[in-house]
Amino acid sequence: MLKNEEKKNEKKREKEIDKLVKKLTLDEKIAMIHGASLFRSGAVERLGIPAIKTSDGPMGVRAEFMDDRWIPSGNQDDMVSYLPSNSALASSWNPALARKMGYVLGTEARGRGKDVILAPGINIKRDPRCGRNFEYMSEDPVLTKAMAVPFIQGVQENDVAACVKHFAANVQETGRLVVDETIDERTLYELYLPAFKAAVQEGGAYSIMGAYNKINGEYCCESKTLLDRILRDEWGYDGAVISDWGGVHNTKETTACSMDLEMSVFPDFDEYKLANPLKELIEKGEVSEDAVDAKVRNLLRMMYRLKMIGPKKDSREKGTYNAPASRETILRTAEESAILLKNENQVLPLDKKKVKKLAVIGANAAKVHSDGGGSAEIKALYEICPLAGLKMYLGGNTEVVYAPGYYVPAKPKTFEVNWQAASLDDLKDTTVGQATRDEAGENEGHLKGEQERLAQMERDKAEIHEKNPELFRQALELAKDADAVIFVGGLNHDYDSEGFDRPDMKLPYEQDLLIEELLKVRKDAVITFVGGSPVEMPWRNQAQAILWTYYAGMETGNAFAKMIFGEVNPSGKLAETFPDKYEDCVTAKNGQFGVWDKITLEEGLYCGYRYFDRQHITPAFCFGHGLSYTDFEYSGLTLKAEKGKDVKLTFTVKNVGKRAGAETAQIYIAPIAAQVDRPDKELKAFAKVELGAGRSKKVSLTLKQEDFMYFDTQLHKFIADAGDYEILVGASCEDIRLRGIATLN
Ligand code: BGC
Repeated sequence: MLKNEEKKNEKKREKEIDKLVKKLTLDEKIAMIHGASLFRSGAVERLGIPAIKTSDGPMGVRAEFMDDRWIPSGNQDDMVSYLPSNSALASSWNPALARKMGYVLGTEARGRGKDVILAPGINIKRDPRCGRNFEYMSEDPVLTKAMAVPFIQGVQENDVAACVKHFAANVQETGRLVVDETIDERTLYELYLPAFKAAVQEGGAYSIMGAYNKINGEYCCESKTLLDRILRDEWGYDGAVISDWGGVHNTKETTACSMDLEMSVFPDFDEYKLANPLKELIEKGEVSEDAVDAKVRNLLRMMYRLKMIGPKKDSREKGTYNAPASRETILRTAEESAILLKNENQVLPLDKKKVKKLAVIGANAAKVHSDGGGSAEIKALYEICPLAGLKMYLGGNTEVVYAPGYYVPAKPKTFEVNWQAASLDDLKDTTVGQATRDEAGENEGHLKGEQERLAQMERDKAEIHEKNPELFRQALELAKDADAVIFVGGLNHDYDSEGFDRPDMKLPYEQDLLIEELLKVRKDAVITFVGGSPVEMPWRNQAQAILWTYYAGMETGNAFAKMIFGEVNPSGKLAETFPDKYEDCVTAKNGQFGVWDKITLEEGLYCGYRYFDRQHITPAFCFGHGLSYTDFEYSGLTLKAEKGKDVKLTFTVKNVGKRAGAETAQIYIAPIAAQVDRPDKELKAFAKVELGAGRSKKVSLTLKQEDFMYFDTQLHKFIADAGDYEILVGASCEDIRLRGIATLN
């Protein structure tokens, strides 16, 4: 549309919004700005203003819930496509795929009649133990924004709003409702905010979700700094801000800032901070009605954009769920997101013709994960586990034998039922699914529940230790006389979950012991994982082949089998560092993670590879690492500074192996004579190229001046120093293949 016409339409829309606001009574406006059910806002039928229907989440559209209880409605028509997690998607390093994946989520959300889908999760991964890392993309802001922007656009093509979460720096689950994070301004602007800025400015996200945590003493959902100064004033955002569920604490503070819709976990909707308590303050004259009008305007604007109201109402997309075409994208993402960490002696791919008997070992081979993890849980139409995928792929003439290998205790019922209400409240009775407020009328974080969970984990450990010897024996027996052995272990949503962090970075259920034994029996055993966050691999020097997959959606098993047998060539690269051991992480050293009420992000910019670089610590597998069944050569870097500003970059990538494959070339910049302290190198751009065997391709990329900038806290803006910068082109952040110097005037 022409710019002028767009402007005219916007003006018209704003006028119509003004008219509507004038017609609304105070009660009606208040009804619109808080939950009228657990996932829906209040409607004003008199004026044709519908309720805003929201749903989780990043991995598909969540099952329907009862209006006022955390109990699924028990329908049979709310099964959906189960999408790869954001951590999987990011590992594909393929923004075009992110757009398609976003489209799938959007069409499913519309198909299920939703207006706002509570996704994507784009928080920066600061510590490998964070329970929700699987829902987030990366430790790096540039990669996160490169994937988040097209994802959001894809969602919104369907007239559904993406609700980008959790704004901001929701970096841990421990004490998530109360934790106060001290973050210096530069770190905030350079690391924790850029993806959100891009999400609203470039992605055009119609809504954004305030986080539970506090930043520098302010609750994110009540923060004038975050919501007014940064989001609205600096970034010019005019969409809707929705609270995380139970993230609003104080009526006055919330009314005074740009928080538009209060959602929560409690069924006492009239007692929400933006319900009766707000009305009382207005009637007493302590709060002006204008503040309510501003919130209503933001919500109405989102509704216009979604064609829920306004002249385009009849042309709103209708969406569809469980469409076979969506599964293609899901399969493709699963294929592109797996990361081949190691492959000595070309153990992988296995040769289908040579394998007559395959031994599959490990509980994750036969486990489905879609139904767990917290609000990202999905009632999947189906989920093909790796074991099923292998069997389907090989057919009946190949013998596939299976042993779980290690014991996984069943999840205690108390954690299963209404986990969400429980995680947000000191519940007396978790079976009714009704959250109750504590005496102070607040929820103070579920400390008691957390202590009980940890005690249960200790009890589990004893049980595991008792049951494992026999399971180990059975597995090793199978491994001995099979033609090939595949171990499928890792984590599950008892570990990768909303509401708590992992106790350590170790594989649970004594898997390390089993893998060590297994590698003694079969040094060619292929070690594979399903998981949502890094684990220690103390036996990794003994293993020849290691394949990592994140929770990869309903087609997991199909993608897995194709990869193991070489029909698909792995092309995923790590979007986060896999440390050798947890003690190597900066948060392990500074102790500023997983503390209930207060943490300081003392490391500043030095998280993830930025920290490992600076301290010269070699991780197990570095950021950007990922192998292929073929090899790539890089050559011929040219750099041209254009107009003294942009830097044009070209180089060639050649597939020098015998199979087709895809390589993600990564561009890092390293300031040579920086005037302030800056990370040794930072990712600034990347390109994924698909290449047939023997083929090469010239890659052209442009680094903009802003790519060279850092945040100057004195000037309160991003600036770039003139001078030389080393430009590094790598296959990972450690495997730098080409270098050049760019000079900025
Ligand atoms: C989570 C959000 C989620 C919301 C609604 C909260 O507990 O933090 O990510 O969207 O619940 O289920």
